[in-house]
Amino acid sequence: MELDWKNLGFQYLPTRGHVQCDFANGVWSKPVVKSDPHISLHIAANALHYGQAIFEGLKAFRAQDGTVSLFRPDRNADRMRLSAERLVMEAPSEDLFVEACKLAVRENLDFVPPYGTGASLYLRPLLIGTEPTIGIKASETFSFLVMVTPVGPYYKDGFSPVEALVMEDYDRAAPKGTGRAKTAGNYAASLLPGLIGKKKGFPIILFTDPKEGKYVDEFGTSNFIGITPAGEYKTPESGSILQSITNESLQTLAEEIGFKVVRAPIALDSLDQFTEVGACGTAAVITPIHAVHYGEKVFRFGGKSVAGVTLTKLYKTLQGIQYGEIPDTHGWLVKV
Ligand code: PLP
Ligand code: COI
Repeated sequence: MELDWKNLGFQYLPTRGHVQCDFANGVWSKPVVKSDPHISLHIAANALHYGQAIFEGLKAFRAQDGTVSLFRPDRNADRMRLSAERLVMEAPSEDLFVEACKLAVRENLDFVPPYGTGASLYLRPLLIGTEPTIGIKASETFSFLVMVTPVGPYYKDGFSPVEALVMEDYDRAAPKGTGRAKTAGNYAASLLPGLIGKKKGFPIILFTDPKEGKYVDEFGTSNFIGITPAGEYKTPESGSILQSITNESLQTLAEEIGFKVVRAPIALDSLDQFTEVGACGTAAVITPIHAVHYGEKVFRFGGKSVAGVTLTKLYKTLQGIQYGEIPDTHGWLVKV
């Protein structure tokens, strides 16, 4: 497959096929590859009306020796299980989840970007309620699908600092709502605030805690991390944010280079404690944030054009492990 690998953005490109399994009468069917990217759904399918739709996001990376690995798919399987519990859905087992992901990558091996291009294959496992429902109730049938598409950086310049806007007018999740689950509805709720941010010139928005609006929750696409001069790696503790697998991995790496990891509420008024701020996630990897606009206030972190030393080190270590350049001492890579 010949694509302009070095200039891929984060958008859908067609591939050879996706994987599908269906749940009915208490059992999952075997994963099969489908080449038609359209799926057939009943018009009354629960996912369309009542939003029983959850998803995951993970990447496959090609190493210099040509081998291809998934990054921590077991963690995504576990998070899909948690999201499914919240939305009363039947989740695939970890084995089925990982098997379907591997199959989707194997089927599309030539869409896994070559080593050295900085690109990767993005996997989107999706679980939807398919039963025709008109009274509000949970579906008893589900489809589990894994689609893939080759991607470059989510924010167009990759590891280059961007400015963020604190979104004070809208929340993406409620205090006891679905913020910890990766539901399609959370992203629907973030579209309008995201658009408002873009119109004001901000590629990324920062949501506040939905209860008081005083603390940092997370970015629309990623978790918040901040580095202090005292050698701390701080990230918000909140009941309404997604538990990021990238953040979890970076916490391990930060501890290994001597940082103290602090998971606690972070007041918006205290952002001046940080010398570096980043947005972290599978798609965003680490996107350095050089300024946060909060009402009339502007908090600045480091230079406009280069990321700070700590986030640069963490970024290089994480990507080094993912592309097989640094030994995977934690067993995070799963060969396909
Ligand atoms: N927060 C939100 C709202 C996200 O969409 C994502 C992306 O999945 C993350 C955080 C980061 O999670 P992860 O690192 O598991 O991709
Ligand atoms: C991911 O990083 O996998 C996500 O799901 C974020 C999405 C906004 C692209």
